[in-house]
Amino acid sequence: MNNLGSILLEHVPFKNSQLQSRIAMAPMTRMFSPEGIPGEDVASYYAKRATNGVGLIITEGTAINHPAAVMSENIPRFHGDDALQGWKQVVSEVHRAGGKIIPQLWHVGAARKAGSLPNP
Ligand SMILES: Cc1cc2nc3c(=O)[nH]c(=O)nc-3n(C[C@H](O)[C@H](O)[C@H](O)COP(=O)(O)O)c2cc1C
Repeated sequence: MNNLGSILLEHVPFKNSQLQSRIAMAPMTRMFSPEGIPGEDVASYYAKRATNGVGLIITEGTAINHPAAVMSENIPRFHGDDALQGWKQVVSEVHRAGGKIIPQLWHVGAARKAGSLPNP
């Protein structure tokens, strides 16, 4: 492997912890969380990235607790016991695979389709 490759794959300090590599995954919307609840496939999607060497995963945009936060019920929420229980599973599988993960919090507001609820 060339120098750049080996530098990317080095462990690196991160706050009071450590990342398994310098590779970070950008947030990418998926819309595979029916009723806003991230399920087993979401956990396995992120865990696979950690297994394959991503040091830090930034999740897809997740909805804060506001009715205009997102434009689809398939976007995972970051509030409510049901959704947070799902995220707990995601975090635990990512950690087991050696990765770290942080949520991207979303309130897309006026970026939603014109005419959509709650204030069309
Ligand atoms: C399918 C897809 C979904 C994305 N969803 C998000 C998202 O949820 N939040 C976000 O900030 N950026 C999102 N992005 C942008 C990416 O995070 C990233 O910034 C971009 O792909 C980096 O490449 P670029 O700067 O060349 O566009 C998305 C990109 C793609 C391709």
